Amino acid sequence: MPIEVDAKPIRQARTLPLRQVLPAVIRDPVHAVLEIGRRTGGDVVRVNLGPFRPYLITHPDHLQHVLRGNSANYLRDGVLWKPLHRLFGDGVMSDGPAWERSRKVLQPVFTAKNVEGLAGRMAEAVAEGIDELARPAESGLPIDVPATMARIVNRVVMRVFFGDKIDMADAARLAPAFDAVGTSVIFRYLLPFVPYRFPVPGDRAFRNAVRTIDDVVVPLVNRHMDSPGEGDDIVSVLCRAADAVGGRRSARWVRDNLVAMLATATETTAGALTWLWPLLQAHPEVAARLRQEIGLVVGDGPVGPAHLADLPYTKQVVQELLRLFPVGWLFPRMVVKSEPLGGVLLKKGETIVISPLITHRMEEFWERPEEFDPGRFSGRRSSSRHRYAYFPFGGGPHQCLGMHVFMLEAQLIIAGILSRYELLSCSPEVATPQMGASLRPRQRVEITLRPIPSD
Ligand code: HEM
Repeated sequence: MPIEVDAKPIRQARTLPLRQVLPAVIRDPVHAVLEIGRRTGGDVVRVNLGPFRPYLITHPDHLQHVLRGNSANYLRDGVLWKPLHRLFGDGVMSDGPAWERSRKVLQPVFTAKNVEGLAGRMAEAVAEGIDELARPAESGLPIDVPATMARIVNRVVMRVFFGDKIDMADAARLAPAFDAVGTSVIFRYLLPFVPYRFPVPGDRAFRNAVRTIDDVVVPLVNRHMDSPGEGDDIVSVLCRAADAVGGRRSARWVRDNLVAMLATATETTAGALTWLWPLLQAHPEVAARLRQEIGLVVGDGPVGPAHLADLPYTKQVVQELLRLFPVGWLFPRMVVKSEPLGGVLLKKGETIVISPLITHRMEEFWERPEEFDPGRFSGRRSSSRHRYAYFPFGGGPHQCLGMHVFMLEAQLIIAGILSRYELLSCSPEVATPQMGASLRPRQRVEITLRPIPSD
């Protein structure tokens, strides 16, 4: 399919010698990766990792083409998907017919309308999770942010989307296992051509994590396959749909989809919300405006879905949070058939790397990209923006299935906490990301809260 961006004559892609900066990528991935982004200027370039030279796509026009316009030519396959395929198998995190079938079965659960219908139950679970902050807040004790966010998110996801079929003890085992998957896979990303029979660091931690996840998920599938019931939770929905797949393969298909949903529904949300607290501490003017809006609309709680329409600034804070820290910071594709893009011939079988982190911080597409400024998402300021200058949830047929869940859950959690507690401090003051499949802070993030006295 010819596209406008290819009116240019075909030339060789410029190659960036990442090899020299590989140690920098490991030490401080965000700065190294952002520097690479800056050097592209929006052009399609190749990044030289020795035998592996993926194309890097950063321009919104090009992203739109790859993710939506001609998405069938850019599959989730190739050396960068292989490591995760060992975890996700052939469900909604794969591609082709297996993905399509999974997406069709799961999609109805995650439409904006259906998620809005679940909002009341989500708000209840969030409020219960926030209740647990009372004791440390009253005693002035530090609160471990990632663990707390994961606990609140788990409660919501397990109750509303998994129909309480996974108990909280098992859910608590899953969170560190998914965390370990995200960090242990990184050497396989950096050394994509090392055959799997040769161990690299992280392999054992990855295998152990997958075993822990399967210890929870496989018995769950076995329990529900034969009598899925009428529930609207995704365990029931997948088990009912599995009949059409048939035999042992069907149990595997349910397992693959449940693992994909557990990974995407909890880790992403908890990770994204962790970045908020250092940002609020560093930007007291944003924190004050946020508190003021929440105080006026919610009072001292509890927060319910009806409040959300009156919390526009809270939503902008969440959007800006995902601009600076898009937890799904890197997602690759494989070129199926050679075609030109941005004047460069993308060759069949090669890997393309797409990174919202890079595009979201390029001066070509954003004013003062390093600044935390939620106001840039006010209607007036965002109306002229290219759809693919901001894409924390991807786009096209693979667009994040859970984006409505995330937006709702994030606003409920932030408004819920800040309607009841004042943020006294956050350490560290500046959190830096560590290299992993998702964008997580390297440091231990802790906050102290103080209860807001009710009038
Ligand atoms: C901060 C929150 C989140 C971010 C930044 C995020 C980001 C993304 C991105 C970038 C993709 C596209 C990947 C690709 O094109 O290869 C994606 C896909 C997906 N996300 Fe999310 N996600 C978030 C939360 C969630 C939640 C809460 C759920 C589930 C309740 C979820 C479920 C999924 C699923 C199932 C897919 C695969 C969709 C498909 O390929 O058809 N995500 N997400």
